Amino acid sequence: MFNRVLRLSQSSRNQLTTWLSKGNLSSSSNSRVPLLEPATTTQQVIAREDKYGAHNYHPLPVAIDRGSGVFVWDIEGRKYYDFLSAYSSLNQGHCHPRILKAFQEQAGKLTLTSRAFYNTSLGEFEEFVTKLFGYDKVLPMNGGVDACETACKLARRWGYDVKGVPTNEARILFVQNNFWGRTLAAISSSTDPSSYAGFGPYMPNFDTVPYDDLPALERWLSTHKETAVAFMVEPIQGEAGVVVPSDGYLKGARDLCTKYNVLLICDEIQTGLGRTGKMLAVDYEGIKPDIITLGKALSGGFYPVSAVLANDPVMLVIKPGEHGSTYGGNPLAAKISIEALKVILEEGLIDNAFAMGNLLRDELSKLDNRVVKMVRGRGLLNAIIIDSKYDSWDLCLKLKENGLLAKPTHGDKIRLAPPLTINQEQIVDCCNIIKKTIEALP
Ligand SMILES: Cc1ncc(COP(=O)(O)O)c(C=O)c1O
Repeated sequence: MFNRVLRLSQSSRNQLTTWLSKGNLSSSSNSRVPLLEPATTTQQVIAREDKYGAHNYHPLPVAIDRGSGVFVWDIEGRKYYDFLSAYSSLNQGHCHPRILKAFQEQAGKLTLTSRAFYNTSLGEFEEFVTKLFGYDKVLPMNGGVDACETACKLARRWGYDVKGVPTNEARILFVQNNFWGRTLAAISSSTDPSSYAGFGPYMPNFDTVPYDDLPALERWLSTHKETAVAFMVEPIQGEAGVVVPSDGYLKGARDLCTKYNVLLICDEIQTGLGRTGKMLAVDYEGIKPDIITLGKALSGGFYPVSAVLANDPVMLVIKPGEHGSTYGGNPLAAKISIEALKVILEEGLIDNAFAMGNLLRDELSKLDNRVVKMVRGRGLLNAIIIDSKYDSWDLCLKLKENGLLAKPTHGDKIRLAPPLTINQEQIVDCCNIIKKTIEALP
């Protein structure tokens, strides 16, 4: 496949094959230790991943070697603006020095105890995060998908223990085009065949309604009064292409969930932590979900950390031994996460995201409307929708050549989500890169 991605000549292919074959087992006494030949070119990096890694992603052909703030450098030393921020994990920018310091200090002291024992950092994280977001309790996990799965488990158990749903009949509602990860439960709620097709059978009692459709939500709630336990929704749909719902949708969903005694779960894994210009995207409507899931920027890109927040009547339905994760709540994650949150608050990243987002959308809306059909988003979570005559993958390749990394999402949409540390001058520079790239299209 690497010759397809890189469009390589036969001689370059041969060179790569020779280079890869050098990584044989050592013939020394340590003969079981594989020798690794260092990669020095983009082609080598891609060829190695292609040969030894599963083909479950389709990355842009750029081999990033280091990052700092809003910039990354590839292995040949070319500099790029990062306009993806690892799907909104790098809100604080690459390798933020304060988070790095917290990471290094804790990594040399204690990294993992498992939850078989107490550790001196987890409680600090729990107190910090619950006070910050105004919930009684937090349940720490690692990836975003395990936080959302935990939220579903909490909702089911709450349904049986508190609401009185008959055993094994709990139903959870999601919206069309949702994305919350890749586990079997997550794909069971997906309406995207590239997520779910070929992986059945699926989780029962998961339903979907259209996004931004309160009448459909109410119809489902009234049809499943006795068995409905939760409605899980992203306040802005990220992977679907930065779909911002109508004003009042989340407030309406909150009211309906309360009316039908159903938990509102808001998945803030991509939208939370300043990304949209508020600490949480639900803050735009001043609502309080029953459960919030956080991840990604909760560690500023240093470590997989996720969290589920809820009040006692929900959180305490899960008892010791009924749910957990070996790495969930580890002391390294706890310290990193406290610092990552402090950076967002103390460095004014939320207000900056709000202001820079407005500037970015203003500038993008001036782009050639033969190519860019729509600009949408909030704060620094944005997308441009490309006319179907143009190929968004090709446009992203051209943006890369001009020094800006972005990735298409769902065909004609390109997400534009730089770190929240970006400044005005850099936004203007990036808009010039995008403008120049678009204007050069045939
Ligand atoms: C809204 C949302 N929820 C959950 C997830 C899953 O997170 P992870 O990839 O860390 O499992 C994602 C990932 O993109 C996401 O965007």
